[in-house]
Amino acid sequence: MNNARWIYENLRLSKQEVDSLSKATKTHGKVEVIFCSHVEWKLAILAKMMFDAGFLVTVIGNNPSTCDPLCIQYLSNNGVKTYDTSKVQRKELDLFLSSCKEIETAHFIFDDGGHIVTLCKKINQAICCTEFTQTGVLRIVKHNELNVPVFNLNSSFTKEVIGNLYGCGISALCGFQLATNLSIAGKRILVIGYGNVGKSVANSFRGANGSVSIFDIDQSKTTLANLDGFSIKNLKEGLKTSDIVITCTGAENVINSLNIQEALNDLIICNMGHDYKEINFVDLKENLEVDYEDANLTKFMVNSKSIFLLKNGEPINLSAGIGFPIDIIDYSFAAALKVWRHSIEVKYVPGFYEYPDNLVNEFLSLKGEKC
Ligand SMILES: NC(=O)c1ccc[n+]([C@@H]2O[C@H](COP(=O)([O-])OP(=O)(O)OC[C@H]3O[C@@H](n4cnc5c(N)ncnc54)[C@H](O)[C@@H]3O)[C@@H](O)[C@H]2O)c1
Repeated sequence: MNNARWIYENLRLSKQEVDSLSKATKTHGKVEVIFCSHVEWKLAILAKMMFDAGFLVTVIGNNPSTCDPLCIQYLSNNGVKTYDTSKVQRKELDLFLSSCKEIETAHFIFDDGGHIVTLCKKINQAICCTEFTQTGVLRIVKHNELNVPVFNLNSSFTKEVIGNLYGCGISALCGFQLATNLSIAGKRILVIGYGNVGKSVANSFRGANGSVSIFDIDQSKTTLANLDGFSIKNLKEGLKTSDIVITCTGAENVINSLNIQEALNDLIICNMGHDYKEINFVDLKENLEVDYEDANLTKFMVNSKSIFLLKNGEPINLSAGIGFPIDIIDYSFAAALKVWRHSIEVKYVPGFYEYPDNLVNEFLSLKGEKC
């Protein structure tokens, strides 16, 4: 899909913030910006918008399965520096990312997964970095050698609530649909993990007439899920009684060759977490019989039953779908740009900061005017 004009017109808040950042950096000479994220059309259009506003922009794919070569081509044709990771082996990704020389001189960094911030010792002149997702935040918090200010964009109202609650479910449903072309109606679905991502996924699949159950290791989350009207299952029972399982935990090895043994015949498993390791693909491949592999799925045989894994366990909304809706991700992009500009005014020392939510109040009233 390349609706470049349509996407541009719907990234309204972002456009406003690009212009504002451009004015604020007018006297700074060439300002360098890095995006290390899923390379899909909305990110590509934002990068191009910044390039057109005079920034020196580099786009790096943070995940081989979500780096769209067409977007890379579009960006390269339009003068944006790109690092295409779509053909990079998973195990070589970190090495590849840390070799991107633009990192050393970047002023602003949009990181998604904590890749740039934790891998690169060379970032030293960045004014501000932002981290987009929960998995990245956890990686960065563990990493104690920050030499630049990093803001937790995931903790902003615009990302954690607007993005995760209203972007994940619809995009997971769309990705699932594009990968399988099956209906949801009447199917039994187990959502594993009931943070905002799991909550959004559970609501969307229920909205498509699926019968949704929840498993979470945190009792407060299962209590909430129960109050939201979902049935609660433990993992074993859930795997035994579901047609579709979706992981949304941010943890590793949630589904593996051992706990999948008792699953229902024809179970479909997929992941919405940042990392493909939630479903232990390597272990499944090593220990289960692979019947066949199609573009979107691998069929495994377990005790004469069929199990289907979508997209090798990569985030289904991005590896098979088109990611968050434009008007939803617009809030998060704009919030990143807003805190970059704010960091020019308030000079932050290196460290990790929660997102100052008062910065984005104006976005909420702008959109609220419509009501
Ligand atoms: N695909 C996307 O577009 C997208 C968008 C936003 C976030 N994410 C990713 O989704 C994941 C979840 O994000 P979140 O913000 O909801 O995180 P969160 O930490 O708020 O919620 C995760 C939930 O999973 C539960 N959990 C952890 N390990 C578990 C396990 N082994 N079994 C069952 N439950 C377990 C936790 O108790 C928690 O309630 C992260 O990896 C995040 O980076 C993906």
